[in-house]
Amino acid sequence: MGDPYFPKLGNGGYDVSHYGLTLDYEPDSGRLKGEAVITARATQELSAFHLDLAGLKPDKVTVGGKGARFNTVGRELVVRPPDDLDKGETFRTTVRYSGTPQTITDPDGSEEGWLRTADGGAVALGEPTGSMAWFPGNHHPSDKAAYDIEVTVPKGLKAVSNGELKGTRETKSGGGGRRTTFRWHSAEPMASYLATVAIGPYETKTWKTKSGLPIYTAVSVSEAAEGTEGTEGTEGTEDSAGALAQIPDIIAWQERRFGPYPFSSVGAIVVGEDDAGYALETQTKPVFPGVPDTELMVHEFAHQWFGNSVSPKTWQDMWLNEGFATYAEWLWAEDRGGDSAQETFDAVYAGGEGSGGVWAFPPAKPPGPDRVFDTPVYVRGAMVLHKVRQVVGDDAFFRILRGWPSTYRHANADTDDFIAYVEKQAGDKGGDKGGDEGGDLDAVWDAWLRGEGKPKQP
Ligand code: ARG
Ligand code: ZN
Repeated sequence: MGDPYFPKLGNGGYDVSHYGLTLDYEPDSGRLKGEAVITARATQELSAFHLDLAGLKPDKVTVGGKGARFNTVGRELVVRPPDDLDKGETFRTTVRYSGTPQTITDPDGSEEGWLRTADGGAVALGEPTGSMAWFPGNHHPSDKAAYDIEVTVPKGLKAVSNGELKGTRETKSGGGGRRTTFRWHSAEPMASYLATVAIGPYETKTWKTKSGLPIYTAVSVSEAAEGTEGTEGTEGTEDSAGALAQIPDIIAWQERRFGPYPFSSVGAIVVGEDDAGYALETQTKPVFPGVPDTELMVHEFAHQWFGNSVSPKTWQDMWLNEGFATYAEWLWAEDRGGDSAQETFDAVYAGGEGSGGVWAFPPAKPPGPDRVFDTPVYVRGAMVLHKVRQVVGDDAFFRILRGWPSTYRHANADTDDFIAYVEKQAGDKGGDKGGDEGGDLDAVWDAWLRGEGKPKQP
């Protein structure tokens, strides 16, 4: 794939349309047995192809039902199908694998991949590299696919994943222990970094948004058990319930601002507060470490439009995820009688709270893979959007805010796509500022998006 920041992620030569994952997890030992059925189309003639897989052992690989030769090199699984694949051919690869899935430490020091949780279970987080810790795939955001994820766990535990729950089934393991299988379906395309599975003792709840979208929330009982007193424990879950009860309001507001919600369900997964170092916008069900505050929920749900439906072409385009999600927080405050986005922008420019490190580098050019989650990507990314708003005016800006996720719905986009889109919308607006508009936008791109240092004009 040649990602400028994570060159080893993803593989060329094919395009995945569907992952069928069948997983069996033993929380006590931490062992995972998996089968991945990967449907892909060859984009060139192939005698071999690679999948990303880290720390797990492939036991058997077939392509088109026939045994294939395979070997692993670092975090690559190299597959040699018995017959060469033609360009344009759709083929199905089945990988049986097993092992103890591992936690991966990112270049920035944060942890992802497979995380064991305080409640005795586990949660999978994949941004930007963690998904290869639990299934083989083309782990780059530019290759999105539909998913069916089936997870079997000891009876009494739950397994929660993206999309909708299609059914559960009780079985007995070889050893006689009772087990439950959860089948999850994601019809809309998903980048693999947004795939998740959360296993543990969860309290789940299902209800609906105002527009009829199904909501599925899962709160780890460890959040309930956090407090030292039993009663405090119960409050933990209730606090979560109170926080999560805001989902319908948040989604209704976001649908007004960003256009129709892009997926067929919504929800949330609340793990223990020390189980993960950050929240993640896992598709349809963001993962929150502990009870989320409203801003954090606004941020992660905004990613469903910005990042999940419109996904980055490479990890260099991260500001298109984080800048929008941060701007969503500013707008939420503005629309709810808090600080206006202009006031937030001014405070950051003046060096107020949250501005630490904001001028370290331009949002479209992080200095390295260890910096793609730094403040400039989030806050200065949001400032770029606010500058666009100042230049094009509110009417055109709010049209862009809805038009961008609708134009690139379920697709990938990069910074140049965004610039071209905004310039087209600003031009289409016609009228008052005439030929100067392009010039003003150029100044925004030069100084705010790509320029080093603090721009001279706020
Ligand atoms: N995308 C997440 C958010 O902004 C943050 C993920 C941080 N991951 C990391 N590996 N540092 O909500
Ligand atoms: Zn974010």
